[in-house]
Amino acid sequence: MIEFINKIPKAELHLHIEGTLEPKLMFELAKRNNIKLEYKSIEEIKEAYNFTNLQSFLDIYYSGAKVLITEQDFYDLTFEYLLRCKENSIIHTEIFFDPQTHTSRNIEFKTIINGITNALEDGKNELGISSKLIMCFLRHLSQEDAFKTLEQASKFKEKIIGIGLDSSEIGNPPSKFKEVYEEAKRLGFMLVAHAGEEGSYKFIIDALDILKVNRIDHGVQAFYNNELMQRLKEEQIALTVCPLSNTKLKVFENMKQHTIKQMLDFGLNVTVNSDDPAYFGGYLNDNFHAIYKNLDLSKEDIITLVKNSFNSSFISKELKKEYL
Ligand code: ADE
Ligand code: ZN
Repeated sequence: MIEFINKIPKAELHLHIEGTLEPKLMFELAKRNNIKLEYKSIEEIKEAYNFTNLQSFLDIYYSGAKVLITEQDFYDLTFEYLLRCKENSIIHTEIFFDPQTHTSRNIEFKTIINGITNALEDGKNELGISSKLIMCFLRHLSQEDAFKTLEQASKFKEKIIGIGLDSSEIGNPPSKFKEVYEEAKRLGFMLVAHAGEEGSYKFIIDALDILKVNRIDHGVQAFYNNELMQRLKEEQIALTVCPLSNTKLKVFENMKQHTIKQMLDFGLNVTVNSDDPAYFGGYLNDNFHAIYKNLDLSKEDIITLVKNSFNSSFISKELKKEYL
């Protein structure tokens, strides 16, 4: 089964490109850009990756992103992830990026997006991996800041398929971003949002009803509300679940406690994803291995999870047919 999991062609729908920054590349970029890191060695960095909740991770993750300065840095980060895709038999990936993490350090929007999209282009041509790019707003910042970011993105509209919402969930409800999501929808972007990761299941309902999202990122807190479970099943709303992320950030105590198999058995449209693999100890195949080993998944379950990802992706109907 492990061999089957490793080889089956997969899609990934929840992946933060800044979360693929491996300690080795972090050191290389720090050296290249003359930036002083708080860590002396790769081992010391890995020891710091001992998270207690989402915020404890985000603090370290934003600090690590400071080594990304030039277009080449964003290119190298992205191309390294695409090489991992190849190893994991990922043939299609939908990548999040967080422009505000960089524009707040005076990195130009075009530097970020050109570096990422040039690598995606080469990934398509050299590795045969198709991709889409989703721009996330940081929810700990204001809606006004999100509007500014949407404005900066307007010049690059053809390179961005959709809009997402990430960062600190508790205290930053979906309703805070109602108007900017309305504007993004009007401009023709697809819509997703992190909801029900460690925040209340009510944020999932609000992401659907107020932000009108096409997919929910995480969504695991839905398990604790029967009415919402029923709705997600009836409407077949895709949930981009990230098992290793959830255990590293203590959303579940351990993998045996994870509810993904129960959600799948209930008939929900769940998918498996790696979120921030350089920080959570594994890429997509590792996530599949972890749930397979701990939750008694069958071969059919694996196939359903993989099909759900292609079906819920933002690729054209024609390409879906080709992939499925
Ligand atoms: N940014 C990167 N990873 C995230 C996560 N798992 N939740 C919220 N924001 C994030
Ligand atoms: Zn995420």
